[in-house]
Amino acid sequence: MNKNIVILISGSGSNMAAIVKASRNRHWQQRLGAQVVAVISNKANAAGLVFARDHQIATAVFDHKAFASREAFDAALMVEIDRHEPALVVLAGFMRILTPGFVQHYEDRLINIHPSLLPAFTGLNTHQRALDMGCKFAGATVHRVTAELDHGEILDQAVVPVLPGDTAQALAERVLTQEHIMYPRAVERLLTRMV
Ligand code: GAR
Repeated sequence: MNKNIVILISGSGSNMAAIVKASRNRHWQQRLGAQVVAVISNKANAAGLVFARDHQIATAVFDHKAFASREAFDAALMVEIDRHEPALVVLAGFMRILTPGFVQHYEDRLINIHPSLLPAFTGLNTHQRALDMGCKFAGATVHRVTAELDHGEILDQAVVPVLPGDTAQALAERVLTQEHIMYPRAVERLLTRMV
């Protein structure tokens, strides 16, 4: 059976691109039957949308500012996502807090990547906060999404050293390189369990 993947982004979409590239290999296509069928953004100018279109993937934009409430936004998003009958909904730099109803609707098939070693540094500005605390290591976490922000079962983690003189940006770039390796691998593992 085909395993459709829907990816939600808000920005550059480099993690999404890493997953799309991984999905184009024979193992994903033939053995896992997996394909990225849609990329959805809450920002019309998200650079990742261009990559998705260039790779013949359906795209959609739902501007959260056009909706009266978080619930209304999530309801519209769910209708669009469900059209694609996803086996997996992947949050990849999707900078929106989701309602409990949304999270429950995709229970067991909703995952996120967060740029810290959870449970440390939930929320925003993770790299600066890690530097401010004097952390010697930083990283990123792939986790299942629950109604509580940046909680949920940890599926994979990548660790990088914090180097002398690091800025938040330098650390973010070091972490992001690892995210691009880890996220496709985590998605592949989950899909393999569904075969
Ligand atoms: C990534 O570093 C991801 O971990 C982070 O945003 C970046 C998105 O980059 N996600 C969050 O902060 C979620 N709270 P990308 O758009 O290039 O994949």
